[in-house]
Amino acid sequence: MKNINPTLTNAWKSLENHFKEIKNVHLSDLFNLDKDRFKNFSKIFNNQIVFDYSKNRVTYKTINKLLSLAKEVFLEDAIKSMFIGKKINVTENRSVLHIALRNLSNNPIILNDKNIMPEVYEVLNKMKLFSEDIITGKWKGYSGKSITDIVNIGIGGSDLGPNMVIDALTPYKNHLNIHFVSNIDGTEICELFKVINAETTLFLISSKTFTTEETMTNAYSIKNWFLKHAIHTKHIKKHFLAISTNKIEAINFGIDSKNIFKFWDWVGGRYSLWSSVGFSIVLSIGFHNFLNLLSGAHDMDNHFLNTKLENNIPVILAMIGIWYNNFFLMETEAIFPYDKYMHRLPSYLQQCNMESNGKCIDRNGKKTSWQTGPIVWGASGTNGQHAFYQLLHQGTKFIPCDFIAPVISHHKIYDHHIKLLSNFFAQTKALAFGTYNKFIEKQRIKCNNNINSREYIYKYFEGNRPSNSILLKRITPYTLGSLLAMYEHKIFVQGVILNIFTFDQWGVELGKSISHQIRLKIQSCRDNRIQSYDSSTNGLINLYFNWREFF
Ligand code: F6P
Repeated sequence: MKNINPTLTNAWKSLENHFKEIKNVHLSDLFNLDKDRFKNFSKIFNNQIVFDYSKNRVTYKTINKLLSLAKEVFLEDAIKSMFIGKKINVTENRSVLHIALRNLSNNPIILNDKNIMPEVYEVLNKMKLFSEDIITGKWKGYSGKSITDIVNIGIGGSDLGPNMVIDALTPYKNHLNIHFVSNIDGTEICELFKVINAETTLFLISSKTFTTEETMTNAYSIKNWFLKHAIHTKHIKKHFLAISTNKIEAINFGIDSKNIFKFWDWVGGRYSLWSSVGFSIVLSIGFHNFLNLLSGAHDMDNHFLNTKLENNIPVILAMIGIWYNNFFLMETEAIFPYDKYMHRLPSYLQQCNMESNGKCIDRNGKKTSWQTGPIVWGASGTNGQHAFYQLLHQGTKFIPCDFIAPVISHHKIYDHHIKLLSNFFAQTKALAFGTYNKFIEKQRIKCNNNINSREYIYKYFEGNRPSNSILLKRITPYTLGSLLAMYEHKIFVQGVILNIFTFDQWGVELGKSISHQIRLKIQSCRDNRIQSYDSSTNGLINLYFNWREFF
């Protein structure tokens, strides 16, 4: 991968000039100029997903210039580097091969002179066999009863992906109740203990490192709780599985070595739902459906690897994001699924994107003078319409949005789905075109000095607010897999262009180590008084001491 400062490329300069031409052009005018704009600015993936980017503030020229930027920083080579296992995660000296986890074509992927695919399949097969035993009830708990509840103990990438996928694929769920415990806040496990039974619950401790404080604290507390019921430690092996790259720590915890599902350091936490980290997904929807999820992602991988940049969906999505983030200086982007089951998608993408590209040092070790990762946020669509969409439509901030919806709902109940989709269609239209047309404009000007005209002012929507529309034929394991892989690759492309290291996350370390020091200090403090930090931190901790004593 080349380490090119994007702002010094010819394409970047050309985009800066082009921005001056585009910034005042209205989407209404772009649509008026090109009656086939939808056809010309949309792509269909495998007859399953439509990606419509026509309601963006781009012309052919913009797209060409953005793709020139991609070429000038050798994006195509970077994509190949990832797929052949080059160590593109330089600061951790690792390859980035989540694509191998869903390589259902089973073509060899060579790492350190060894094909990694047999190991990938070995773990997949283990997941298949274990899950079949658990789902069919053959796997028994310590008192001889079958398993009814699964608890995934993990955080960040070891939580968000599986949790999101299981909810998104609720219509495919079997009888098992799946719970997620992530936060160190004891509230989570206290609430959990109210609804599970130790005899029939299986705990998956999911942690790449097996050292994460939140996960290990929860895991030990749960183990203690479990042993209060099961009494004997020999029962742990019937109720605790580990998913980790750190076999030694998992064994130290007391997990039977046969119950450890491995994965590899070339899988980033936030890209790991395709690995054994997705075991809770397998348990929830069955191995066959999990394979379909992998298959959808694999097909998107092939599209990404083999399609020319101008037709490449993740590439176009990524370059449009760079256009807004770096030229329009729009700081955030929003994800709005119009599907209740997909409500966790924004949080999942938030980690995937912000932990990947929230960096300010480039691949040459220099501070970036350009914008890197955007702020990602969102919520399920129609609820948002009655909460924060006002700002999207009439606020001073411009927020590019991705609207995502299934054409066919899993529920055919009265006219709900047509109403839901009408809202989906309406919102992108209202954002793009507003009430921007000559008639309203004339009325507004004519009435400007008339007190009765105020309603025109307040009811005026300037429009020109960009969005992507992503329509899935239906939300299935396959289409969901494709959608998620599309976003993963979008994030990768943006990292390549912005010349940052997408696959490390050093930024989370400082807070972890300070929290560790503070806890030790609080626990060893004899006089309930701390003076060695800054005045705010001292003040807060000392208040904690006072109030803790008081109550
Ligand atoms: O603190 C951030 C992070 O390292 C994420 O990148 C990761 O997904 C999460 O913590 C959990 O890490 P682990 O799977 O090692 O417990």
